[in-house]
Amino acid sequence: MTTLKNCFNIDDLGRLARKRLPVPVTDYVEGGADDEVSLANNISAFSRYQIVPKVLQDISALTTATEVMGCKIPHPFYISATGFSGMMCPTDAELAGVRAAASRRTLYTASTFSNLPLEDIAEASPCNKLFQVYVLNDQALSSKLLERAEKAGYKGLCLTVDTVVGGNRERDARSGLAIPPRLTLKSMFQYMMRPAWTIKYLLSSNSMSLGNFPELPQPSMGDSQAFTQALGTLFKKDLTWDDAKKMIDSWEGPFAIKGIMSVADALKAKEVGATAVILSNHGGRQLDGTPAPIELVEEVRAAVGPDMEIIVDGGIRRGTDIFKAIALGANACSIGRAYVRGLSAGGQEGVEKALDILTSEFERCMILAGCSSLEEIGPQHIRKRIND
Ligand code: FNR
Repeated sequence: MTTLKNCFNIDDLGRLARKRLPVPVTDYVEGGADDEVSLANNISAFSRYQIVPKVLQDISALTTATEVMGCKIPHPFYISATGFSGMMCPTDAELAGVRAAASRRTLYTASTFSNLPLEDIAEASPCNKLFQVYVLNDQALSSKLLERAEKAGYKGLCLTVDTVVGGNRERDARSGLAIPPRLTLKSMFQYMMRPAWTIKYLLSSNSMSLGNFPELPQPSMGDSQAFTQALGTLFKKDLTWDDAKKMIDSWEGPFAIKGIMSVADALKAKEVGATAVILSNHGGRQLDGTPAPIELVEEVRAAVGPDMEIIVDGGIRRGTDIFKAIALGANACSIGRAYVRGLSAGGQEGVEKALDILTSEFERCMILAGCSSLEEIGPQHIRKRIND
């Protein structure tokens, strides 16, 4: 029987997660937009870069710590924002991820669409946290959200700009997924195949609610389609750089713009005062057919200069992927599905397992590449595969 104990890499965690989650929920986590070209490319792009080791280096004292978004972290990766954690872990929802982040002293990003209120997530653990912002049509609601994040002690903001509308995720349409999952006759069989998840889901009182918006109609088993439609209409459609600048000016701490996919937009983010850009195509869940974020790192670094923080996400499944991102010029990586698979496979323990796997892979990669600190990792350690 597969357990967390015999998961040796992130894909093993994914296989275990599949055994635990109903098919529609697995599809929600693993799926992408349209033909899933961006999703696949996010992963395959890493293999177009090769690591060039430097041998006979003294690596007896390894240091991997860094600072990102004003927070010290032990390794250059941390947990990205993912909404509706209650779907993956009905008993603990976001608490599993944030507690795992605390136990591994890394950063946790809480999503605007968390199932638990941002205050509960903040109180649950002492680790540093970022708050991910979706700007909503309702200006008052959006402003209140930022005030709440500041009051609750979130260290930095991360404004997601690639979700003006939801992506076209056809796996969800086919599997009949609704948020929250709805037990229709069609989906009943799939949920019955995962009785442990289904019982936990049915017993969890708040794991499917829109934790940050008690004033909005909360999802219930009966009106999930209406809820999904309503969610799509919440996003502010006329969000511009002016709005981003106003938010940056009114926020005291570090501010990242997430969803940057070009040199021009990275420069614009720098101009309006963002401290960091997160190169991201939302894990291939929004616009299909984009480059992989890893393919942009080198050119964005050359354009924005050495001081602006570059964080990259999308397709990170191995410690070697993180090493490649750093060698190309990123400061850190944020991880989505790599941690969500752990969350689905085993709650807090599963997320810790995912973080531990990436940690040991990254450290081994550094040693084998002959680097004893992050500063030593550079373009000399990377080459593009010939014929690409
Ligand atoms: C996400 N992502 C996301 N991003 C965001 O800004 N707010 C959110 O609420 C969510 N929710 C979400 C749910 C799930 C299930 C996934 C898989 C992803 C995107 C996420 O932050 C990140 O950009 C990608 O997941 C990175 O790609 P990988 O690591 O999953 O390949």
